[in-house]
Amino acid sequence: MRPTMRIVSGIQPTGNLHLGNYLGAIRRWVRMQHEAECLIFLADLHSLSDYIPADERRRNVHEMAASLIACGIDPDVAVLYNQARIPAHAELCWLLNGTARMGWLNRMTQWKDKAGKNREGASVALFDYPVLQAADVLLYQATHVPVGEDQKQHLELARDIAQKFNTDTGVELFTLPEPLIGETAARIMSLRDGSAKMSKSDPSDQSRINLADESDAIAQKIRKAKTDPEPLPDSTDGLEGRPEALNLVTIFAALTDRTNQSVLDEYAGQGFGQFKPALADLVVETVAPIRARLKDFDTHPEALEAILEKGSAKAAALAAPTLQATYQALGLR
Ligand code: TRP
Repeated sequence: MRPTMRIVSGIQPTGNLHLGNYLGAIRRWVRMQHEAECLIFLADLHSLSDYIPADERRRNVHEMAASLIACGIDPDVAVLYNQARIPAHAELCWLLNGTARMGWLNRMTQWKDKAGKNREGASVALFDYPVLQAADVLLYQATHVPVGEDQKQHLELARDIAQKFNTDTGVELFTLPEPLIGETAARIMSLRDGSAKMSKSDPSDQSRINLADESDAIAQKIRKAKTDPEPLPDSTDGLEGRPEALNLVTIFAALTDRTNQSVLDEYAGQGFGQFKPALADLVVETVAPIRARLKDFDTHPEALEAILEKGSAKAAALAAPTLQATYQALGLR
């Protein structure tokens, strides 16, 4: 096993990131990049499981890359790239297709959820998605992968594939990646409905704070956020059955790196008339510098291309020995 920690993580490229994305996965990466060697990539090959017009895919990749950097991923610290620039991802996926079992993939809950009743009409890429994901991490001998609940099963599968490959070929080739369980990422909900996740696909723009939102729009969205008439309770138990109140307290706590209880200690007994302006100030303070950096990229799209090109060259060099060893272990070279 390698002595150092190498973290690999990917994100599906979607445009229009919001506060929920930032306080979920992205901020965690921003912090991690200073603690371990990090490879962070845009999973544009994974996006093939659904048809998207070429221009839209290109735009999504650019917007996501810009957002990650705007949020604090430093391309001189972390290796930042998009999968499609590195043929080794697709190549290793194909090589691992010989090891992955149909039965394993059939048990993936994400496959079952996404394909639903229409398995016949689902793309092969959707079915094979977890094998590509295994290739993403095994290619770099990742020691750790930060995973949310929904991706745990895919990481388990990557370990199963690595183990079987090593056993079948008799070569200790792949490192078995461990899940990196960190602070549980804040689950940020819609501002209009405390039981639905904040999402870019919600038809109401009022339901989310976009990282590109102007300060007055942010303040207005928080002012209008759904709440209830009760004042804030003095303990977190009192937030039970009050999903909207819980959500606003959770956002406040996440932004200030405090616990929900510590926020309530300060605001217990106060109404939303007092709490919302304080929250709005915090959100505005957090988003303003991100928005400003995003705007820079709007005017310098070529800077983004250069960053991804450089990150891809670094990643490709790291991937080459493992890919070569895989061909060899299989008797293909
Ligand atoms: N499937 C992951 C998601 O939807 C994205 C992803 C692709 C990924 N490849 C990965 C995450 C490798 C971690 C490691 O969130």
